[in-house]
Amino acid sequence: MHRLAVLTSGGDASGMNAAIRAVVRSAIYRGMEVYGVHQGFAGLLNEELIPMTAGSVADIIHRGGTILQTSRSEEFRTGSGQAKAAALLDQWGISSLVVIGGEGSLKGGHELSKLGVNVIGIPATIDNDVPFTYSIGFDTAVNTVLGAINRLRDTATSHGRIFVIEVMGRECGEIALAAGLAGGAESVLIPEITPDLEQVINKIKQGINRGKLHSIIIVAEGVYPALELKEIIESATDHDTRVTILGHIQRGGTPTGVDRIMASTMGKTAVDLIYEGQRGLMVGGDRNRVYTIPLQGVVQGNRVTDLSMYDMVGMLSI
Ligand code: F6P
Repeated sequence: MHRLAVLTSGGDASGMNAAIRAVVRSAIYRGMEVYGVHQGFAGLLNEELIPMTAGSVADIIHRGGTILQTSRSEEFRTGSGQAKAAALLDQWGISSLVVIGGEGSLKGGHELSKLGVNVIGIPATIDNDVPFTYSIGFDTAVNTVLGAINRLRDTATSHGRIFVIEVMGRECGEIALAAGLAGGAESVLIPEITPDLEQVINKIKQGINRGKLHSIIIVAEGVYPALELKEIIESATDHDTRVTILGHIQRGGTPTGVDRIMASTMGKTAVDLIYEGQRGLMVGGDRNRVYTIPLQGVVQGNRVTDLSMYDMVGMLSI
């Protein structure tokens, strides 16, 4: 009987549970034996593997986080850690591994596939920074940010204030751009574009002149210190400015329909690929389609952020 394992790795993302459920149930449906690895690659190195049944994944499709838990393993980053993981999988009689995670996790998966393990990757990270695909968790995170922007708009309007809202994304501006466009922000600061503070200030002043009751500035983490930005804006505009750093509330919460559909489709497809004997692939796609890309191509690729959204944010908030 074919034996496979599934793990989640890196930062948790809403929809990971729906993906685990799809992998486990599709594997059982296909007559395979399936193990869940606790705590990602670190758990693999500690042999934290448990047999999964259809019931192990009951009642999780709507839950954020990951029932398998996750980690960022230093040991697994080393060649000896990767060799140990491959040897352990061999000892357990596990020939295929489904890795659910972001860019770093898929890189780790690719290293294992070079050592003979059949690794199939599923992109899952709120950052949406995996090349050639949308990632599970991104849609939920954007909607969480939008919920926060809606609330902050209420208070911003009531006081006539400016709000600087810092969002996550590591080195990628996808959350900031999507939330900025869908949230009607005045300006968005992202790592892909050098910040132009003069432009930000001018935009706020223009808004004040035409009677706007508030301004929303979205800053991706690491691009510009939000508290410093507040000081600069206050002294340039003479308007009350507040800062909200959304932080980890962007990571959890019940996954959106889009994330659950992507997770279910990608999880099922990952098992189909294993069943068909295909190797070393990532399942990519979005809400409407699913396709495969060699893991080798994914780790060598760069995500190209759609910067047309950046221009639209400015154009639509005049
Ligand atoms: O990769 C997901 C992410 O939430 C990034 O957006 C953020 O930079 C990072 O993880 C935070 O990591 P940690 O949860 O380890 O603080």
